Amino acid sequence: MTKKITERASFGSKLGIILATAGSAVGLGNVWRFPYMTGENGGAVFILIYVICVLLLGIPCMISEFIIGRHGQSNTARSFRLLANGTPWALVGYMGVLTGFLIMSYYAVVSGWCLQYIWASLVGHLQGDPEYFKTYFAALSGDPVKPVIWTVVILGMSYLIVEHGIRNGIERASKMMMPTLFILLLIIVAASCLLPDAGKGIEFLFKPDFSKITSDVFLGAVGQAFYSLSLAMGALCTYASYFTKYTNLTKSATQIAVIDCLVAILAGLMIFPAAFSVGISPDSGPSLIFITLPNVFQQAFSAAPFVGYIVSLMFFVLLSLAALTSLMSLHEVATAFFEEEFHTTRKHAAIVVTTTTIVIGAFCSLSLGATDTLTFFGRSLFSWFDFITGQIFLPIVGFLTCIFIGWFVDHQVVRDEFTNWGELRGRFFHLYIFLVKYVCPLAILLIFLHQLGALN
Ligand code: PHE
Repeated sequence: MTKKITERASFGSKLGIILATAGSAVGLGNVWRFPYMTGENGGAVFILIYVICVLLLGIPCMISEFIIGRHGQSNTARSFRLLANGTPWALVGYMGVLTGFLIMSYYAVVSGWCLQYIWASLVGHLQGDPEYFKTYFAALSGDPVKPVIWTVVILGMSYLIVEHGIRNGIERASKMMMPTLFILLLIIVAASCLLPDAGKGIEFLFKPDFSKITSDVFLGAVGQAFYSLSLAMGALCTYASYFTKYTNLTKSATQIAVIDCLVAILAGLMIFPAAFSVGISPDSGPSLIFITLPNVFQQAFSAAPFVGYIVSLMFFVLLSLAALTSLMSLHEVATAFFEEEFHTTRKHAAIVVTTTTIVIGAFCSLSLGATDTLTFFGRSLFSWFDFITGQIFLPIVGFLTCIFIGWFVDHQVVRDEFTNWGELRGRFFHLYIFLVKYVCPLAILLIFLHQLGALN
């Protein structure tokens, strides 16, 4: 036991911890899901409620996962098991690992599309009328071979990083990729906000129209906060097991949440001003990024096509970086699990995870058009994965994690982790416990019931 703890890897610096964990949080959820959710749910008012959800629900849940992971100093399943003392609460950890693993498979497929779009922008294939972009995307997602190849490529990249371990792999890669992502983001925001009529887009993002608040807006915001902060999928718990005993959990959670919100809002500032400047409606749903956006960039910069070319290329590089840093955090969840539970090497574990994900990912991808045999009850395998993980497992794991920490685990253990064994004052401890005990589980229960249709 002692051997295991002393040998366990850890992040090398505070900056490394923040960038790697923010890398997990900042992903397709910020650049792809957040803008279309904002577009569909009334703009500024959604953002406002979203930020409140992140503060009141996201941060406490994030701290809870950090507490479990750092206390356990091991993969998510074992970390829960250690605190569960032989009770079935241990199952929540296993469910977290399973959720992370399943999400990884279809997340890899979408990440693969991003790589294809880098290639397409590079060779100038992203040019044409709006109909062309639609057909292009439909042809890509329905293709039996191409997306599978790109899935293999992105998982291969993630494998190479994860295989190198925490400091030399994940931390080093995050320190390179995250700053690049921020720079690209700022450049595109500037280009987009300088377009004529960009002001309308900015107004849409920042001027709340309170008449637009509905229960959907509220529940959409809670769901988005969970997804975007990488909660309830074992990722934060696993990363926290590599934190040091000096890491201030509350401060780190707050910093990561702020970065995540900032990137989401900047992503909005990258997309909406450009969309409004050419009069394209930003509420087109999930297809916003792959269909609407290339068209928006092309039209918005039609006076200077080269700028349009560069912006579009930079955008898909940014998207792929965001996807890869999230993907590798999911990769780490399953790799740490296999490595520690089956007593094997990191390399071996990472190979098993990569291969299994490629196989499941390939089936997900094929279910999107290449074959009908992978459609069950009118839903493709891809969409089943999305549904089961995002709408069923995620809220259940999130809910149970809060109940576990709030009601079951000895509060002295929680307090010790919260205050770094008395080093920190822990001024917000009572507030944190209150939120985790009552507010978070209730809010999660509400979205869950709403998603199941019980509250409609
Ligand atoms: N938070 C990521 C995003 O915003 C998604 C994700 C969830 C990544 C869970 C890792 C773990 O895209």
